Amino acid sequence: MVKLILKDIPDFHKIDVYEKNGGYQTLKKALGMSQQEIVDEVKKSNLKGRGGACFPTGLKWSFLAKNDKPKYLICNGDESEPGSFKDREIFEKNPHQFLEGVLISSYALGVKDAYVYIRGEYWRWINMMEVALADAYKKGYVGKNIFGTDFSVNIHIHSGAGAYICGEESSMMNSLEGKRAYPRVKPPFPAVIGVWGCPTIINNIETLSNIPEIIKNGGEWFSKIGAPAHPGTLLFGVSGHVNKPGVYELETGTPLMTIINDVCGGVKNGKQIKMVIPGGSSMPPLTREECLTMKMDNESLKAIGSAIGTAGVMVMDEDTDLLKVLKRITKFYYHESCGQCTPCREGCGWMLRVLDRIDRGEGRQEDLDLLISVAENIEGNTICALGDAAAWPVKWTIRKFRDEFAAKIPKHAVHIPILNKVHGVRNEADGFNILKQNNENEVVVSLMGKVQEDLNDESVRYSG
Ligand SMILES: Cc1cc2nc3c(=O)[nH]c(=O)nc-3n(C[C@H](O)[C@H](O)[C@H](O)COP(=O)(O)O)c2cc1C
Repeated sequence: MVKLILKDIPDFHKIDVYEKNGGYQTLKKALGMSQQEIVDEVKKSNLKGRGGACFPTGLKWSFLAKNDKPKYLICNGDESEPGSFKDREIFEKNPHQFLEGVLISSYALGVKDAYVYIRGEYWRWINMMEVALADAYKKGYVGKNIFGTDFSVNIHIHSGAGAYICGEESSMMNSLEGKRAYPRVKPPFPAVIGVWGCPTIINNIETLSNIPEIIKNGGEWFSKIGAPAHPGTLLFGVSGHVNKPGVYELETGTPLMTIINDVCGGVKNGKQIKMVIPGGSSMPPLTREECLTMKMDNESLKAIGSAIGTAGVMVMDEDTDLLKVLKRITKFYYHESCGQCTPCREGCGWMLRVLDRIDRGEGRQEDLDLLISVAENIEGNTICALGDAAAWPVKWTIRKFRDEFAAKIPKHAVHIPILNKVHGVRNEADGFNILKQNNENEVVVSLMGKVQEDLNDESVRYSG
């Protein structure tokens, strides 16, 4: 197995160990190349962004506006998506390769100031990066006239506000500017009008950590690793019901069952898989059958309507209550919605309330279609992709596991407004089984026998 980032070298996070293993020599090589040559190598490598959207990095770089304004690079280390925990592994185990990637990228893009944005709660990794950066400054790899050339750059570590929305690229720019982290309407894209109104490239930490390997070995070499349409390795963050959860670097295209069985020691307690979310909590889930043949690269996942996302693989066994899972995930997005767009702000709340009432045993037969409809009204109708991230798990989990959700809804349960006191005293003898009195205006009942047949007859439902 090729390892490009997590190299299993003891103390690799220390600058002298990194240097002994050829560290910062690729930066020297890069400074002898033209900026365009570096962009061309990255294009040739077919590196796709590791931040979730899988956008081609070289192509993104080529959109950087060529004008007289300062150019900025933002390194996205917010990593707040549930199920994603791989960037912090880079901060901890290989910070210098990441910094070398930032330096090479800054040179290629004409950047004089690069920002490493790390979620505020990740103080441990912020401290580690501060130590690594200070060491790199001391050695002269960062700062003025690097390797005696006229290339100078400063790298700043910025601790974020601790909100999922800060990871969205345009919110991150607002956050850096000291404003509330609201997403910006696009276009204009950051590569044209970005932070402080200047051309800006935003890349994920893992994306940038691949750059030294690409420049050292060539873009073509990189393009031949793993799955051809999505080459390289991925840091898979595996969590849930496996014996050995953790972060594992594997080639793209590795079969999912190899990851679960061979790398992670199988499903806990010898249970069967019920569902796997392949790329962080927002990605459409896979059924057990889909897992059996799935290869973990974006093209293979796209073919069945999912995506690689951040490669945060969440494994759930046969005993998992998917309603509880979906409620938990939806609660997260409801809490984290910035509130700027109505479909996301209101829709996440509605999805949570409907899931919650099903969980309380008060679901209605029409609730599953209602949930899918709310999700579809959020999807594609918001300024940023947080809306999609909230909608996809609801829409796809219900579509793929509908029977499990339907089984939680009481058969023939209807909610009947109490138009007069008589409804409040209905009992089984009348063909009503009162499940619950919601409030003074509504009871939840299941209907039996004749009353069930009269379900559509308003006079029966509402008469005393
Ligand atoms: C709500 C939301 C949160 C995001 N959080 C992150 C994050 O924590 N880290 C990240 O790299 N990208 C995150 N992204 C994606 C970024 O907006 C952006 O696409 C990415 O940083 C680009 O890097 P890449 O091209 O190297 O993948 C998020 C997107 C959304 C919509």
